[in-house]
Amino acid sequence: MSGSNVRQTSLNGPPGLRLIDDAPVPSPGPGEVLVRVAAAGVNFVDVSQAHGTFAGGPQPPYAAGIEGAGEVVALGEGVDGPEPGTHVISVGVEGGAFADYMVLPAAAAVPVPVGWGDEQALGMVVNWPTALAALKPLGHIEAGQTVLIHAAAGGTGQVAVRLAKHYGATVIAAASPGKHEVVLGLGADHVIDSRATDLAGEVLRRSRDHQLGIGLQAPSPPDRPEHRHSDPGRTGDLRRGHGGDGRAPRGRGARPRPAHHLRTGRGAKALAELEARATVGKLALLP
Ligand SMILES: NC(=O)c1ccc[n+]([C@@H]2O[C@H](COP(=O)([O-])OP(=O)(O)OC[C@H]3O[C@@H](n4cnc5c(N)ncnc54)[C@H](OP(=O)(O)O)[C@@H]3O)[C@@H](O)[C@H]2O)c1
Repeated sequence: MSGSNVRQTSLNGPPGLRLIDDAPVPSPGPGEVLVRVAAAGVNFVDVSQAHGTFAGGPQPPYAAGIEGAGEVVALGEGVDGPEPGTHVISVGVEGGAFADYMVLPAAAAVPVPVGWGDEQALGMVVNWPTALAALKPLGHIEAGQTVLIHAAAGGTGQVAVRLAKHYGATVIAAASPGKHEVVLGLGADHVIDSRATDLAGEVLRRSRDHQLGIGLQAPSPPDRPEHRHSDPGRTGDLRRGHGGDGRAPRGRGARPRPAHHLRTGRGAKALAELEARATVGKLALLP
């Protein structure tokens, strides 16, 4: 049996992605499950990996895509769940999500919440835990603090804005000018131009008593993996890994928003748009 997948063939970034139409369907090994992918999440990590700047990332050629959701269709040796037919979501730097089928460790396959579609679950295991970890266990967010959120209109940033408001913080959101209405609509108190030359000055003019509690970092350009901005106050660095206390706030506001989507074969276009700062919110690839 064969299917299609998207492979990264070089370290030239998104142009190095190729659609392979007749790739063999992977076999689940011991402890693994085979998933028929219904939706894959596009993340900035995919861009970093495509340039080879993600620490410990794969070397080309590799099957691209770290975040996938879909139906379990086969179990590897020693696996007794999740059962075939279960819809799951997972993330792994081993990749392979931009494909018709992907293999996952069974232990890392999280059931899609009852009543949610696979596409709706995107973000659940990447953006939400990342934003939560940056704000709470790393940033120790408290009500009344001022929080600066870079890339606030992005997949992770939108979640961070909503979580920071949930925790009672004042949010200064940085985004490109065309995205300002989006972040204000999420509840940000102030919005600044992320391309402004004096970003620190813009922030200080809007922070109460010139105190900034937490700053969440934006992506660095591929040739400059160091932090682009030096923020006063504590910094929850989104690039440090995710985890969190595992307890996202519940209720109406906690449900992920629908993703903007493209076909899987257009993976190179999706990554190029993400890299060019042209996207808003979560981006998904659908087979
Ligand atoms: N450690 C983890 O586990 C983890 C998990 C998820 C995400 N992250 C990190 O969180 C950040 C956001 O990731 P995401 O996947 O949610 O992406 P995203 O925010 O949806 O997209 C990237 C956005 O970052 C902004 N940006 C600022 N400087 C940029 C630059 N030099 N190049 C490209 N974009 C730039 C752009 O927004 P504006 O044009 O509006 O400024 C762009 O739209 C990334 O740094 C990512 O590596 C880390």
